[in-house]
Amino acid sequence: MTNNIVILGSINVDRILHIAQLPQPGETIKMTQLDLAAGGKGANQAVAAARSGAATTFIGAVGTDAEGRMMHEQLVANGINVDHVAQVADMVTGQAYILLQAGGQNSIIINAGANALVSPALVAQSEAVFEQADFVITQFETPVAAALAAFDSARDHGVTTILNPAPASDQPQDDLLRLTDVIAPNETESARLTGIKITDAASLTASAAYFHQRGVKAVIITLGEQGSFLSYAGQEQRVPAFRVDAVDTTAAGDTFIGAMVSQLRPDLSNLVAAMTYASKASALTVQKLGAFPSIPTEKAIQSFGQSAQQR
Ligand code: RIB
Ligand code: NA
Repeated sequence: MTNNIVILGSINVDRILHIAQLPQPGETIKMTQLDLAAGGKGANQAVAAARSGAATTFIGAVGTDAEGRMMHEQLVANGINVDHVAQVADMVTGQAYILLQAGGQNSIIINAGANALVSPALVAQSEAVFEQADFVITQFETPVAAALAAFDSARDHGVTTILNPAPASDQPQDDLLRLTDVIAPNETESARLTGIKITDAASLTASAAYFHQRGVKAVIITLGEQGSFLSYAGQEQRVPAFRVDAVDTTAAGDTFIGAMVSQLRPDLSNLVAAMTYASKASALTVQKLGAFPSIPTEKAIQSFGQSAQQR
């Protein structure tokens, strides 16, 4: 079985600034290293899905600058269909400034650039791709209006919808949630949307209830080193994380989403197995620097799975 996945989302060039810790207001600090890598939440999820064998189509936008051409080539090199990646004149390609601190934690500043022009019209031009798709995935680095249009088309064609509500937003999204089959936030993104801080099992249950009440079938909340939580069909389950040392956590969440959906059955009958696979994939991503360069292949995930130890 090969899943056919449509990803609507962002494309960024990441500049990774290595620092010991974040500067204080008024303070000047030195970076110890500067790296450039391909990234963007949507693009990372597409690469994760494609490297796990999914047939992957991207809907998004880059500028007509050199970085836009570079990102276009990177997506093609990963076997991703870029027929619906717009090249927008007079716009920069999306940029992310990643402040990578000791221990692999990061803080990110983005300049949306061409990502801000991903629109319902672009989705409408891509309508035909929804006819072949099993899944559509989107995030919040591109405008919500485009996400709504994509999930509307998905519903028309019986395509399963996956929402990764990242980066965190506290705008209520009831219209989008009504069209969402699976939501997969991390604990911060969940708290921003629901207003419920995740501290224990009861707050996880309450967070899941918020989404279920708005029409979402499956709720997956990723909890970093604590693994992930699933609420589906009246059952709750926990999937442990794998024990690894983090170098750079950038794209770990994106890898989880793309890898999971590559393995998922559209009827959602194997969620736990797909989450376990995703958890192995993101354990590999955190061990390498950069977004695209750190996203593992199916082969690497399977061989890691044989030696890995869950927390
Ligand atoms: O989720 C990680 C991504 O967020 C990075 O690749 C960066 O581009 C930002 O969009
Ligand atoms: Na990484």
